[in-house]
Amino acid sequence: MRIAVIGTGYVGLVTGTCFAEVGIDVTCIDIDAKKIENLKQGILPIYEPGLEEMVQRNTLKERLSFSTDLPASIQGCDAAFIAVGTPPGEDGSADLKYVLAVARAIGQNMTNYMVVVTKSTVPVGTANKVRAAIEEELAARGENIAFDVASNPEFLKEGAAINDFLKPDRIVVGVASEKAEEVMKKLYKPFLMNGHPLIFMDIPSAEMTKYAANAMLATKISFMNDIANLCEIMGADVNMVRKGIGSDARIGNKFIYPGIGYGGSCFPKDVKALIRTAGENGYEMRVLKSVEEVNENQKSVLFNKINTHYNGELAGKTFAVWGLSFKPKTDDMREAPSLVIIQKLLEQGAKVKAYDPVAMEEARHTLGDSIEYGKDEYETLIDADALLLVTEWPEFRSPNFTVVKKLMKEKVVFDGRNIYDATEMCEKGFTYYGIGIKRFVQHQLDTIII
Ligand code: UDX
Repeated sequence: MRIAVIGTGYVGLVTGTCFAEVGIDVTCIDIDAKKIENLKQGILPIYEPGLEEMVQRNTLKERLSFSTDLPASIQGCDAAFIAVGTPPGEDGSADLKYVLAVARAIGQNMTNYMVVVTKSTVPVGTANKVRAAIEEELAARGENIAFDVASNPEFLKEGAAINDFLKPDRIVVGVASEKAEEVMKKLYKPFLMNGHPLIFMDIPSAEMTKYAANAMLATKISFMNDIANLCEIMGADVNMVRKGIGSDARIGNKFIYPGIGYGGSCFPKDVKALIRTAGENGYEMRVLKSVEEVNENQKSVLFNKINTHYNGELAGKTFAVWGLSFKPKTDDMREAPSLVIIQKLLEQGAKVKAYDPVAMEEARHTLGDSIEYGKDEYETLIDADALLLVTEWPEFRSPNFTVVKKLMKEKVVFDGRNIYDATEMCEKGFTYYGIGIKRFVQHQLDTIII
């Protein structure tokens, strides 16, 4: 089989490469000539574990190629996947200009039947717009070539995208014809070995499934953050509460970790877009509006703890920050809670020295020289007044605390992800703050240190 994937961003690149990995002939297309040149040489625009080797391997095997030439690349394809960006417009709705421009280009150039698949996260109704755009272009050419549209949302987690694609929990495909279903079945057959389902449905339901999935996951996180904040007030420990509720299979133990708010390219954007779509159609998403509000608030929780600890006197203090990306195993800093925390510290006249295992370059683009950058996690701590654990990278989980203590000026740790044990940190001589942890533990720590 032969496919084209248009858009070599995160989703497009993972999709194209994984299809090539199972033997499908894939051309990845982008309008950015520099990006395509780099990809031909195996240089990737993003960091994703395992992707670089997979791109290089499949390029060598000539199953994967890169091109800026959409008209030539879609010839003879069984399917064309649209995976270009849908940036949020000023009003929060997804901007479809790139998706529809690709649809038009396909309509202008296709010469055989194909399934045109929307892979980008797009509002309900977009596949119909894609269909209309292609029909218009075909009519303008005086051509009557048959085609189908399909919606095939992605559920890839950054940092685990390859595994998510190769061994999916499920694959959701929205189709409107048997022919399109057959093509999609053939394409996805190699990924169904672990017994998880390929779920066919109508197109609007597939489009809605993506938003509903991300909105549900964001809701779990905001709910737990709300519970964590209440735990602190009531003297409960959210780590215990999490274990207590997570063992109920109806609730499940995943995605109930409190922290400093969700970030990334998907949850904030999709929650906003769903609220917006509902509003435009006369419906109010009350739960999701609160999910968003709780999340905004949660990004300030760690800063508020710091501010309270220092009685609002942060000017001249130096804070070491471990982790900048919105989550581990990615260099993505979009909507990262680290940005909000750092901004607030800088506004108060504090100094920030940060280290992230892979997001340093990305951070330099975003934060410039407003902060200092550490050489590694330990060097970042030299003369710091406190350590802020912001992203739970595995290498931060078990540092040599004797060294940590020696390097820091003040032995204070603000743990935004609850990766350290409060009691152990206390025994090691740190003042420790977590999220949603009993107040008396924190008082106890102070007492012991004094
Ligand atoms: C998400 C979805 O998981 C994926 O299916 C979808 O296709 C794209 O959006 P991703 O953005 O890569 O993937 O990140 P994810 O691992 O889901 O984490 C999102 C955010 O939630 C991160 O900021 C993370 O730190 C936070 N989170 C996650 C929590 O605060 N607590 C949790 O228990 C889980």
